[in-house]
Amino acid sequence: MINKNIKKFASLLTADAGNYEKLLKDIEKEGFNGIHFDVMDGHFVKNFAFSPQIIKSLRKYTPLPFQAHLEIESPSDFIDLFIECGCNIITLHPQTCKIKRELRYLRARNITTSVAIDPDIKISEILDYISLIDNVIIMSVYPGFGKQKFLVHSLEKIKNLKNIIINNQLPVTISIDGGINPNNENQIIESGCDILIYGSSLFN
Ligand code: DX5
Ligand code: ZN
Repeated sequence: MINKNIKKFASLLTADAGNYEKLLKDIEKEGFNGIHFDVMDGHFVKNFAFSPQIIKSLRKYTPLPFQAHLEIESPSDFIDLFIECGCNIITLHPQTCKIKRELRYLRARNITTSVAIDPDIKISEILDYISLIDNVIIMSVYPGFGKQKFLVHSLEKIKNLKNIIINNQLPVTISIDGGINPNNENQIIESGCDILIYGSSLFN
Protein backbone atom coordinates (compact mmCIF):
# COMPACT_ATOMS: atom_id res chain seq x y z
CA MET A 1 0.00 0.00 0.00
CA ILE A 2 2.69 2.48 1.03
CA ASN A 3 5.42 3.24 -1.51
CA LYS A 4 8.89 2.30 -0.25
CA ASN A 5 10.20 5.86 -0.44
CA ILE A 6 7.52 7.05 1.94
CA LYS A 7 8.55 6.97 5.58
CA LYS A 8 6.40 6.41 8.63
CA PHE A 9 7.06 7.82 12.09
CA ALA A 10 5.13 6.86 15.23
CA SER A 11 3.99 9.58 17.64
CA LEU A 12 3.67 8.22 21.18
CA LEU A 13 1.55 11.04 22.62
CA THR A 14 -1.59 8.93 23.10
CA ALA A 15 0.14 5.57 23.63
CA ASP A 16 -0.01 3.66 26.93
CA ALA A 17 2.85 5.11 28.99
CA GLY A 18 3.16 1.88 30.95
CA ASN A 19 4.07 -0.01 27.82
CA TYR A 20 6.66 2.07 25.95
CA GLU A 21 9.38 -0.62 25.82
CA LYS A 22 7.14 -3.16 24.06
CA LEU A 23 5.55 -0.51 21.85
CA LEU A 24 8.92 0.76 20.63
CA LYS A 25 10.09 -2.75 19.81
CA ASP A 26 6.82 -3.50 17.98
CA ILE A 27 7.00 -0.20 16.06
CA GLU A 28 10.50 -1.09 14.88
CA LYS A 29 9.41 -4.59 13.81
CA GLU A 30 6.49 -3.12 11.87
CA GLY A 31 8.91 -1.16 9.71
CA PHE A 32 8.50 2.36 11.05
CA ASN A 33 11.38 4.72 10.29
CA GLY A 34 11.41 6.90 13.39
CA ILE A 35 9.81 7.88 16.70
CA HIS A 36 8.14 11.26 17.14
CA PHE A 37 8.04 12.74 20.67
CA ASP A 38 5.67 15.62 21.32
CA VAL A 39 7.34 17.73 23.99
CA MET A 40 4.71 19.93 25.68
CA ASP A 41 5.12 22.40 28.53
CA GLY A 42 1.57 23.50 29.43
CA HIS A 43 2.30 26.98 28.01
CA PHE A 44 2.76 26.89 24.24
CA VAL A 45 0.04 24.24 24.28
CA LYS A 46 -2.35 23.33 27.09
CA ASN A 47 -0.96 19.87 27.62
CA PHE A 48 2.12 18.15 29.01
CA ALA A 49 4.25 15.48 27.40
CA PHE A 50 7.72 13.94 27.17
CA SER A 51 10.47 15.35 29.34
CA PRO A 52 14.11 14.84 28.31
CA GLN A 53 14.45 12.30 31.12
CA ILE A 54 11.72 10.07 29.67
CA ILE A 55 13.18 10.29 26.16
CA LYS A 56 16.63 9.42 27.49
CA SER A 57 15.23 6.34 29.28
CA LEU A 58 13.58 5.15 26.07
CA ARG A 59 16.68 5.63 23.91
CA LYS A 60 17.98 2.14 24.74
CA TYR A 61 14.94 0.30 23.35
CA THR A 62 15.40 1.08 19.65
CA PRO A 63 18.03 2.45 17.27
CA LEU A 64 15.34 4.27 15.25
CA PRO A 65 15.83 8.05 14.88
CA PHE A 66 14.16 10.11 17.62
CA GLN A 67 12.43 13.33 16.63
CA ALA A 68 11.72 15.87 19.39
CA HIS A 69 8.79 18.06 18.35
CA LEU A 70 9.22 21.02 20.71
CA GLU A 71 5.74 22.39 21.38
CA ILE A 72 7.07 24.62 24.16
CA GLU A 73 7.89 28.24 24.93
CA SER A 74 11.59 29.19 24.82
CA PRO A 75 12.82 26.01 23.12
CA SER A 76 16.26 27.62 22.76
CA ASP A 77 16.85 27.02 26.48
CA PHE A 78 16.34 23.27 26.07
CA ILE A 79 17.85 22.29 22.73
CA ASP A 80 21.06 20.99 24.29
CA LEU A 81 19.09 18.82 26.70
CA PHE A 82 17.21 17.16 23.88
CA ILE A 83 20.39 16.56 21.93
CA GLU A 84 22.00 15.03 25.00
CA CYS A 85 19.08 12.66 25.59
CA GLY A 86 19.54 11.15 22.14
CA CYS A 87 17.30 13.08 19.76
CA ASN A 88 18.46 13.06 16.14
CA ILE A 89 15.89 15.44 14.68
CA ILE A 90 14.67 18.57 16.43
CA THR A 91 11.49 20.31 15.33
CA LEU A 92 10.88 23.96 16.21
CA HIS A 93 7.83 26.16 15.80
CA PRO A 94 9.24 29.37 14.26
CA GLN A 95 7.10 31.68 16.40
CA THR A 96 8.73 30.34 19.60
CA CYS A 97 12.35 31.30 18.96
CA LYS A 98 14.91 33.11 16.82
CA ILE A 99 14.49 30.47 14.21
CA LYS A 100 17.46 31.13 11.93
CA ARG A 101 19.87 31.23 14.85
CA GLU A 102 18.55 27.96 16.28
CA LEU A 103 18.59 26.17 12.92
CA ARG A 104 22.22 27.19 12.41
CA TYR A 105 23.02 25.92 15.88
CA LEU A 106 21.36 22.55 15.19
CA ARG A 107 23.29 22.22 11.92
CA ALA A 108 26.54 22.93 13.76
CA ARG A 109 25.64 20.12 16.18
CA ASN A 110 24.87 17.69 13.34
CA ILE A 111 21.19 17.49 14.23
CA THR A 112 18.59 17.19 11.47
CA THR A 113 16.74 20.52 11.40
CA SER A 114 12.97 20.57 11.28
CA VAL A 115 10.37 23.35 11.35
CA ALA A 116 6.68 22.81 12.15
CA ILE A 117 4.13 25.12 10.62
CA ASP A 118 0.76 25.52 12.28
CA PRO A 119 -2.46 25.29 10.26
CA ASP A 120 -2.72 29.11 10.05
CA ILE A 121 0.90 29.72 8.99
CA LYS A 122 1.60 30.01 5.28
CA ILE A 123 4.41 28.17 3.48
CA SER A 124 5.69 31.55 2.22
CA GLU A 125 6.64 32.47 5.80
CA ILE A 126 9.47 29.93 5.97
CA LEU A 127 10.96 30.43 2.48
CA ASP A 128 13.36 33.10 3.64
CA TYR A 129 15.36 30.49 5.59
CA ILE A 130 14.47 27.24 3.82
CA SER A 131 18.16 26.64 3.08
CA LEU A 132 18.61 26.01 6.83
CA ILE A 133 15.82 23.41 6.99
CA ASP A 134 16.09 19.66 6.38
CA ASN A 135 12.47 18.81 7.16
CA VAL A 136 9.18 20.72 7.30
CA ILE A 137 6.30 19.36 9.36
CA ILE A 138 2.97 20.56 8.09
CA MET A 139 0.67 20.52 11.10
CA SER A 140 -2.65 19.04 10.01
CA VAL A 141 -4.18 19.74 13.44
CA TYR A 142 -3.66 22.60 15.88
CA PRO A 143 -0.80 21.54 18.14
CA GLY A 144 -1.59 20.27 21.62
CA PHE A 145 -3.55 17.06 21.49
CA GLY A 146 -3.81 13.73 19.74
CA LYS A 147 -7.03 12.31 18.28
CA GLN A 148 -8.01 15.50 16.42
CA LYS A 149 -9.52 15.58 12.95
CA PHE A 150 -7.23 16.01 9.93
CA LEU A 151 -7.50 19.52 8.44
CA VAL A 152 -8.03 19.01 4.71
CA HIS A 153 -6.43 22.31 3.63
CA SER A 154 -3.10 20.71 4.66
CA LEU A 155 -3.12 18.82 1.34
CA GLU A 156 -2.83 22.10 -0.60
CA LYS A 157 0.05 23.17 1.63
CA ILE A 158 1.88 19.91 0.92
CA LYS A 159 1.41 20.40 -2.85
CA ASN A 160 2.54 24.01 -2.68
CA LEU A 161 5.68 23.18 -0.70
CA LYS A 162 6.46 20.14 -2.85
CA ASN A 163 6.37 22.31 -5.99
CA ILE A 164 8.78 24.78 -4.44
CA ILE A 165 11.10 21.94 -3.39
CA ILE A 166 11.09 20.35 -6.85
CA ASN A 167 11.42 23.63 -8.77
CA ASN A 168 14.39 24.71 -6.66
CA GLN A 169 15.89 21.21 -6.18
CA LEU A 170 15.91 21.66 -2.41
CA PRO A 171 17.05 18.80 -0.12
CA VAL A 172 13.99 19.20 2.12
CA THR A 173 11.57 16.48 3.21
CA ILE A 174 7.91 17.09 4.05
CA SER A 175 6.21 15.49 7.06
CA ILE A 176 2.59 15.64 8.07
CA ASP A 177 1.50 15.53 11.71
CA GLY A 178 -2.03 15.17 13.07
CA GLY A 179 -5.04 13.02 12.28
CA ILE A 180 -3.28 10.61 9.92
CA ASN A 181 -5.07 7.29 9.42
CA PRO A 182 -5.53 4.59 6.76
CA ASN A 183 -8.40 6.58 5.18
CA ASN A 184 -6.39 9.69 4.36
CA GLU A 185 -2.84 8.38 3.94
CA ASN A 186 -3.08 7.78 0.19
CA GLN A 187 -4.30 11.31 -0.53
CA ILE A 188 -1.50 12.68 1.64
CA ILE A 189 1.13 10.66 -0.22
CA GLU A 190 -0.30 11.69 -3.60
CA SER A 191 0.01 15.33 -2.54
CA GLY A 192 3.76 14.87 -2.19
CA CYS A 193 4.36 14.12 1.48
CA ASP A 194 7.52 12.12 2.35
CA ILE A 195 6.99 11.24 6.02
CA LEU A 196 3.67 10.42 7.69
CA ILE A 197 3.50 10.75 11.47
CA TYR A 198 0.90 8.37 12.91
CA GLY A 199 -0.41 8.88 16.43
CA SER A 200 -3.76 7.73 17.80
CA SER A 201 -4.63 5.70 14.70
CA LEU A 202 -1.85 3.31 15.78
CA PHE A 203 -2.69 3.07 19.46
CA ASN A 204 -6.45 3.45 19.84
C1 DX5 B 1 -0.15 17.30 18.14
C2 DX5 B 1 1.05 16.43 17.93
C3 DX5 B 1 0.90 15.21 17.07
C4 DX5 B 1 -0.05 14.17 17.63
C5 DX5 B 1 -0.53 13.30 16.52
O1 DX5 B 1 0.25 18.41 18.89
O2 DX5 B 1 2.08 17.21 17.35
O3 DX5 B 1 2.18 14.60 16.90
O4 DX5 B 1 0.57 13.35 18.57
O5 DX5 B 1 -1.52 12.48 17.04
P1 DX5 B 1 -2.78 12.05 16.16
O6 DX5 B 1 -2.24 11.17 15.10
O7 DX5 B 1 -3.65 11.36 17.13
O8 DX5 B 1 -3.38 13.30 15.61
ZN1 ZN C 1 3.93 16.21 16.86
